[in-house]
Amino acid sequence: MKDKLPAYTVFVSIIAAIGGLLFGYQTAVVSGALLFLEGHFDLTTLQQQLVVSTLLIGALIAAILGGSFADHFGRKTSLLVTSLLFLVGTYLLTGANSVLEILTGRFIIGLGIGLASLVVPLYIAEMSPAKHRGMLVSFNQFAITIGILLAYIINYYFSSSQDWRWMFGFAFIPAVLQLIGLYFISDTPSWFISHGKKAKAMEVLEKTRRPKKEEEVLQKTNISRKEGRIKELFNTKVKAPFLVGIGISVFQQITGINIVIYYAPRIFQLAGFATAESAISATLSIGIINVLMTIVALWLIDRLGRRPLLIIGIAGMAASLAVLGWSFLIELEGISYIAVGSVMVYVSFFAISLGPIAWLIISEIFPLKIRGRAMGIAVFANWSANYIVSLTFLTLVEILGTGFTFWFYTTICLLALWFVIRKVPETKGKTLEQIQNFWE
Ligand code: BGC
Repeated sequence: MKDKLPAYTVFVSIIAAIGGLLFGYQTAVVSGALLFLEGHFDLTTLQQQLVVSTLLIGALIAAILGGSFADHFGRKTSLLVTSLLFLVGTYLLTGANSVLEILTGRFIIGLGIGLASLVVPLYIAEMSPAKHRGMLVSFNQFAITIGILLAYIINYYFSSSQDWRWMFGFAFIPAVLQLIGLYFISDTPSWFISHGKKAKAMEVLEKTRRPKKEEEVLQKTNISRKEGRIKELFNTKVKAPFLVGIGISVFQQITGINIVIYYAPRIFQLAGFATAESAISATLSIGIINVLMTIVALWLIDRLGRRPLLIIGIAGMAASLAVLGWSFLIELEGISYIAVGSVMVYVSFFAISLGPIAWLIISEIFPLKIRGRAMGIAVFANWSANYIVSLTFLTLVEILGTGFTFWFYTTICLLALWFVIRKVPETKGKTLEQIQNFWE
């Protein structure tokens, strides 16, 4: 009976995953809002770039500081802080009357996103029974993709009225819902254990109805304060998980997903979609396929395991990028259809592999005593790589041409494939404690 997924665990995972929804929404909404902010505030190119990049800077800072915060003050308190950051940032953005207010709002939202991208997978992983952990943690990615799709739809809907305030303001709804939901959830058993609160940990374990064996292992876990110190981060036992965690995070980004998510209309215009409208509807279909294929991943992740999905997915990403590059190089008739087709296939393969699994793996592989801080470093690597890719894509197209740029990303996918085959262990069905012992 204990193998059944308890409603409480599903509930807490959904409440936490709202942070993922806001992450997805906020990263994607700006492309639409920027067009109108530009007119409203008379933005220079530099100011436009700042509107986009202050969010990333906030995310980087929060990733680094957020890990210690989550280890020290708890996962639930960190979730609460993300909700508050999202609310304050959205409040500033919706009411902004100056560029400074816009930039401050974007920075605060960035802090929220950075913290959410760390603490949501962390919280869910520690709340989940091993058997269902892959699916539950991937609620986060599912929510990210819904957030992106919502942003595409809202951008489209408000584009005629040019109402950028509503584009930002929509984010109030999920942020308030999360804040209310947080009242009903507790911190994780692992965090309670790591702070010597065994009774509390047992209470939560009871509610999440974990198998007896998992309960016993957690009960026996003992962490002294000394062990949790920062120098543990550099201890040899954690070098291997660091390599995997940072590697998978960087590969999630440098295999190019966000050139599609952020620049899809541009790619489709390059491929010959004449009107902005047709490029935008093609972009909407990308958002939809991303959500749908993530549902397939939720279903497969604890059945097939992480490694097979990563291997199939990354191989598929490499193949579809190769076709995309080739369609640009030989300038085929009907190239726009091949382009849309291969971008769809590429996003589908990402959605069943690196999308959910990169976040999942980094929530699984680090020992409890340093988990938050170690994840923070991996998340920092993820956002830094994201920043570099988004900054360099258009320049690469200028230098290499569109076709060779996509082939460049094909090569990176092949490297990612090699990395996964050689370095990433299978974590399916193992408890976090078993994974920890594996490294030791
Ligand atoms: C990545 C984001 C990306 C999104 C697309 C996430 O896992 O971290 O950078 O935009 O997936 O679905």
